[in-house]
Amino acid sequence: MTMKLMVLAGVLISSAAHAGSGPSFTKDLAPILKTRCATCHLTGAEAGRMALHPAAAYDSLVKVQSIEAANLKRVQPHKPEASYLLMKLEGTHIANGGKGARMPFGAPPLPPEQIALFKAWIKAGAKKN
Ligand code: HEC
Repeated sequence: MTMKLMVLAGVLISSAAHAGSGPSFTKDLAPILKTRCATCHLTGAEAGRMALHPAAAYDSLVKVQSIEAANLKRVQPHKPEASYLLMKLEGTHIANGGKGARMPFGAPPLPPEQIALFKAWIKAGAKKN
């Protein structure tokens, strides 16, 4: 392979890897959870029973059973349509057997582009990335 082709192949591989990885939990989602959610969901002892500050958020969400919706995980990797967290952000939780308010509680909903980040991250496998 010539030098030029090798460089081209490298560029293609790295851009494909980037496109496939989706949003980053640490860089894209944790800061939103910290400012919009951890104000209430701080230690896990509060209503909702989960800590959403950066050090705890991932383990509080991914593959963890929801307390409000009997048959749903908070985050089911690869399945936004089966993830209670997303329903609470979109306001579709009641229709899906959940209860309580749309999140964030008592505040305006997250902007659609932020909700889309959560959705894309779950779809890409909800990685600790
Ligand atoms: C002002 C306080 C407050 C804020 C801010 C808040 N929550 Fe909540 N959250 C609650 C309360 C209270 C409940 C339980 C009652 C309810 O669901 O309405 C709850 C419940 C939940 C549940 C249900 C947990 C389960 O296992 O069923 C999820 C998921 C949730 N919150 C996610 C979030 C997210 C994500 C954010 C930020 C976008 C957020 N909350 C912001 C107070 C808050």
